Amino acid sequence: MDGNGRWAKRRMMPRSVGHTRGAKNVEVICEAAYDLGIKYLTVYAFSTENWSRPADEVKTLMKLFSRYLKSYRKKAMANNMRVRIIGDRTGLSEEMNEDIRRVEEETAGNTGLQFQIAINYGGRDEILRAVRRLKGTPAAWTIDDISRLLDTGGIPDPDLIIRPGGEYRLSNFLIWQSAYAEFYFTDVLWPDFSPEELKHAVTFYAGRDRRYGGV
Ligand code: FPP
Repeated sequence: MDGNGRWAKRRMMPRSVGHTRGAKNVEVICEAAYDLGIKYLTVYAFSTENWSRPADEVKTLMKLFSRYLKSYRKKAMANNMRVRIIGDRTGLSEEMNEDIRRVEEETAGNTGLQFQIAINYGGRDEILRAVRRLKGTPAAWTIDDISRLLDTGGIPDPDLIIRPGGEYRLSNFLIWQSAYAEFYFTDVLWPDFSPEELKHAVTFYAGRDRRYGGV
């Protein structure tokens, strides 16, 4: 969800305003995704590298996550949405861990949109944590064994990865899972990424010919 900072700067406002607008937009896009028939949606909210941002920005983001995790508990129940968090929780506060535990528990049985939020997430870190949990002899390990042990275990690989904000890179997002994903890049900044933009991305995806290495 790139571009919150620039969105605010263009309006001569502090970056935190951009993050607040970005957080509101998450709800809009969740609803739009569900209406389009999307079953799984994962958003990249905070990377393992984002801790290097100024302390007050990190604090603002953590507060926003806590606030939204609490409010999702109510909204997700009303919308039949299941919420899960991917990323390394050991690096998050006790309070945040409690918020995560509660929202995941309460929404576990919901069968509508399956919504994942990546917080303190890095693809390389996720793979390393998964590999450390592998059992048995290395020669017997399989690709499926690793997939199962990732934070996304049980969640299908993404069909489409959308990056707003004008950068053309993955930035350590779902690097294992995106092996055969399609990619959609747009200059639109995240707070401006509208349901209409989501439709463009899905239309782009629908026109792709996926061969998975075949012909
Ligand atoms: C990247 O934009 C955005 C982030 C690091 C934070 C994303 C967080 C949110 C959208 C808010 C909360 C989300 C939830 C799920 C409640 P940037 O700050 O790097 O923007 P810039 O490239 O314009 O500086």
